[in-house]
Amino acid sequence: MQTTILGIESSCDDTSAAILRDGAVLSNLVAGQEAHKLYGGVVPEVASRAHQVHIVPVVDAALKKAGVGLEELSAVAFTRGPGLAGSLIVGVSFAKALALSLDIPLVEVNHMQAHVLAHFAEPPYPAFPFLCLTVSGGHTQIVRVKDPLNMEVLGHTLDDAAGEAFDKTGKLLGLDYPAGPLIDKLARQGTPRFPFPRPQIPGLDFSFSGLKTAILYFLRQALEKDPEFIRNNLADICASVQQIIVNTLMDKLEKAAAETGIREIAVAGGVSANSGLRSAVESAGKRLGWNTYIPKLEYCTDNAGMIAVAGYYKYLKGEFSGQDVGPLVRWSV
Ligand code: KG4
Ligand code: ZN
Repeated sequence: MQTTILGIESSCDDTSAAILRDGAVLSNLVAGQEAHKLYGGVVPEVASRAHQVHIVPVVDAALKKAGVGLEELSAVAFTRGPGLAGSLIVGVSFAKALALSLDIPLVEVNHMQAHVLAHFAEPPYPAFPFLCLTVSGGHTQIVRVKDPLNMEVLGHTLDDAAGEAFDKTGKLLGLDYPAGPLIDKLARQGTPRFPFPRPQIPGLDFSFSGLKTAILYFLRQALEKDPEFIRNNLADICASVQQIIVNTLMDKLEKAAAETGIREIAVAGGVSANSGLRSAVESAGKRLGWNTYIPKLEYCTDNAGMIAVAGYYKYLKGEFSGQDVGPLVRWSV
């Protein structure tokens, strides 16, 4: 018998649905929310209402694209957390109602675990144990992955996430939200000539809030002397910011690889779309003899494909949730 999983993701501002059959992704659709650009960040209330509008059409479209009928579903997998309460509740309620009406199992998924398991949406797959640097708008962590459902956090951010560092710097520079992709594009045309301080945090933890403050003071001073400073130096500022963030991530990743002796190295989450980070991982891989894995872009940013993959592993182990399950705003892997 085939196993067909519907995955639902609604932890932040993207509503997504995916169909996975026997481990292969048949469809993976995302409805984004442009409205947050107006506010320079995700507004929880706006996100929650948009999820309510998008969830039924997105699930419908994912089923149609996969050519799968509701009666063929084996289980519904959904993001239980971590994420925004008002966003999570929409996906959780939808998944519960659908599983109940179809009388099929309900499978709760940890969003951060799913970012890591996005590496199993398509081959080549990392071999166990591997290290995964998960870098997104909400999270930055390095985990040791012993098997699909057994992960250990080796280091995490003490304040802002790497994506947040990109987005908040972008706001200071007058760039639209989310600024990460724009900074990446501008950085390619610039030279990293501004020496922003590298965060000095012991062990494998990260901190990015000091960098944001340093950039704020640097820009204030520069703008006093030259009101056109940002406009005249935008590409170089972006290249400098990107270099510091990428170097900080790479320092810790190399340290984790050296300390654990693991050479299977994966990167996941929205920031893994960054061209500077991608090339830094590849060149460290060549230098240090790593096998490196970065998923296709559609599996890097928030998507239900990764939720369905994680749900599939749990389904095979019979790890189901009851109808009393609710969202978990905070939930470690
Ligand atoms: O994983 P994701 O889609 O959502 C969260 O779970 O947060 O990640 C979104 C984050 C945003 O902060 C965005 O600015 C960042 O990923 N991002 C990038 C790039 N593409 C997306 N950051 C730097 N360079 C990029 N090319
Ligand atoms: Zn995410």
